[in-house]
Amino acid sequence: MAAPRLVVVSNRVAPIQEGEPTAGGLAAGVLDALRQKGGLWFGWSGDISDAPEAKAERTVGPISLFTIDLSRRDYDDYYRGFANGALWPVLHYQIGLGRFEWPEFAGYRRVNETFARSLAPLVGPHDLIWAHDYHLLCFAEAARAQGLSNRLGLFLHTPFPAPGVLMTIPAHADLIRAMCAYDLLGFQTETDRTAFADYVLRCAGGVAHPDGVLDAFGRRVKTGVYPIGVHVDDVRAQAETPANRRQATRMRANLMERLILSVDRLDYSKGLRQRFAAFERFLADYPAHHGLATFMQIAPPSRADIETYQVIRRELEAEAGHINGRFAEVDWVPLRYLNRSFPRNVLMPLYAEAQACLVTPLRDGMNLVAKEYAAAQDPAEPGVLILSEFAGAARELDAALLVNPYDEAGMARAMDQALSMPVEERRERHAAMLAVMRRNSLERWRDRFEADLRTGPA
Ligand code: ADP
Ligand code: G6P
Repeated sequence: MAAPRLVVVSNRVAPIQEGEPTAGGLAAGVLDALRQKGGLWFGWSGDISDAPEAKAERTVGPISLFTIDLSRRDYDDYYRGFANGALWPVLHYQIGLGRFEWPEFAGYRRVNETFARSLAPLVGPHDLIWAHDYHLLCFAEAARAQGLSNRLGLFLHTPFPAPGVLMTIPAHADLIRAMCAYDLLGFQTETDRTAFADYVLRCAGGVAHPDGVLDAFGRRVKTGVYPIGVHVDDVRAQAETPANRRQATRMRANLMERLILSVDRLDYSKGLRQRFAAFERFLADYPAHHGLATFMQIAPPSRADIETYQVIRRELEAEAGHINGRFAEVDWVPLRYLNRSFPRNVLMPLYAEAQACLVTPLRDGMNLVAKEYAAAQDPAEPGVLILSEFAGAARELDAALLVNPYDEAGMARAMDQALSMPVEERRERHAAMLAVMRRNSLERWRDRFEADLRTGPA
């Protein structure tokens, strides 16, 4: 019998072109899975329109793309409201930033139902349906209501919080019940998986079986850990291409001798405010780096119509001005703050040029920038990764300099240590990180999830 077709569902469908390099994060993982075996990718077009359920169809190589628009009301309730206004902050332990409204939660369910209703006619009886991320926690329940009996899996790219944190969302019980309608739930780390299982066992009367299998709400669901990876060799190849490298070296020539780099979406979960404060502390406590070290923060605006994102943007602009005002000299600007995104053929060689990369989220599901930075390094002369212990990546990349993002002095010390680290120690740490990343590759992530989805929670 032919292998079952893969059907991917995610909030956003990446704007892909055949032959083009892939985008990062969720998009890279999904594309990789689909490019290998072909299949269908379904999601929101990114557009808001009056004909919200209009479907657009496109084929790129072996992949069929189907997208639907959202109405203004759906966008406000589902995307701006519950998914990004309530769920995202709580999943990242930022309880104080969450803002819950029942009508928005109803809108979230409504859009999950719309997705299921629009997808149902496109699905064959043996297709494997793989949903992605926090936008679609209620999708399997909606798909079952549409009569779909296919194998349904969800991979959560974000963290999953401890029960006490999750329960600050008044609709927590509805969410967990809906998640149990999946056959397979994939998490980035064991901490996330255990937090989910804890809730099911302690708060929902569930029963645990071997191999992460749980019984709850009259259903059986398998839970597993699938840390998402990067294509190590592709990243390094992009970082090394002579044309790309020349451009990065030119950029670096303007940036003094010691470059500390950070690359993030402009999101409060990334710990940017604490990082700026730590850099200020570094400049104050380690004056030997004055005139030599530059910190470059690349942070394109994200979800810019949500107030919490507007607040963090304003705060960072003020803080960047304050730091440069306090320390800059006529021939040295310590902090460069760039609010834009760069193509990967610029970003990867820039990683390779940076002596240190600061990846200090307050919480992160995985953080692929950390893995990309490590993969981009020249093994003979590698830079140093400074990594938050609260990023999922820290479970695998424990050879990085691990820091607590709430510890300004500790982060300042790590910056000094990174810029002064002997090459033998840098090579040793880098080799250890590379070995883990080769083992936990993107292919392995995809193949293990797909295999478990095919087998189901028997
Ligand atoms: P998140 O998924 O929360 O944004 P990750 O670190 O897991 O965080 O993934 C971010 C992805 O987006 C990475 O692949 C990274 O290369 C890419 N990215 C982040 N910022 C930029 C930028 N300014 N320009 C280009 N790509 C970026
Ligand atoms: C994170 C989420 C993704 C999301 C991306 C960009 O990576 O895990 O699901 O697509 O951020 O956010 P946006 O709201 O612009 O889709």
